Amino acid sequence: MLNIVLFGPPGSGKGTQAVKLAKKYNLVHISTGDLLRSEVANQTKLGLEAKKIMDAGELVPDEIVIGMIKKQLEEHKAGKGFIFDGFPRTVEQARELRKALTDYDERVTMEISLDVPREELLKRLVKRGEESGRSDDNEETINNRIDVYERQTIPVTYYYEKMHKHVAVDGIGTIEQIFKRIVKEVEGFEKYHQPE
Ligand code: AP5
Ligand code: MG
Repeated sequence: MLNIVLFGPPGSGKGTQAVKLAKKYNLVHISTGDLLRSEVANQTKLGLEAKKIMDAGELVPDEIVIGMIKKQLEEHKAGKGFIFDGFPRTVEQARELRKALTDYDERVTMEISLDVPREELLKRLVKRGEESGRSDDNEETINNRIDVYERQTIPVTYYYEKMHKHVAVDGIGTIEQIFKRIVKEVEGFEKYHQPE
């Protein structure tokens, strides 16, 4: 399996690039944000609880997202691999992902982080908020999402760095340019890192 963690701050292009990568490598795209938004849309108990947290730009509790991920792993265990988009977002989630994949004799292949400065993130997300409107795409919540990312999520990159699985990619440019940079990293990484 090829299991890629696509990492980066809110608005860095994780969702955009994950769709393209999933298509190219025939992987299952798992976005915890999309899964949560579908719970919100269906007004489930979990969705009602999650909505308040998401609208504030805070993180939903680890056990909730880990539960959702485990369900997805079980459903798609016969596939070629996964793109994790927006997960793991805490070191605890990263540890739990490792354990869950081990149950299938699998592991995270690599973590690719999209580097984009705050001004550009704000610009992209404010624009999306005006055009299509996700309820968390307003300036105040966007800033808090970025703060939460810096405080609680960045440590996940150190976790993968220690395992020599972290790669950073410049996330500024056209969608195609960034996609090419990511593909180059995936293919280089696969060549030099044989399974343990
Ligand atoms: P989530 O849905 O994951 O949102 P996010 O991380 O805030 O990021 P976005 O989805 O807004 O951005 P993205 O990086 O996917 O970029 P995109 O491709 O869309 O999480 C939402 C909330 O759910 C969290 O705040 C939290 O509450 C909860 N949650 C989710 N996962 C969780 C977890 N694991 N643990 C706990 N809580 C969790 O692009 C952004 C915009 O930019 C788009 O309009 C796009 O068209 C545009 N764009 C893309 N690429 C480019 C480019 N190269 N140039 C210009 N514009 C571009
Ligand atoms: Mg996204």
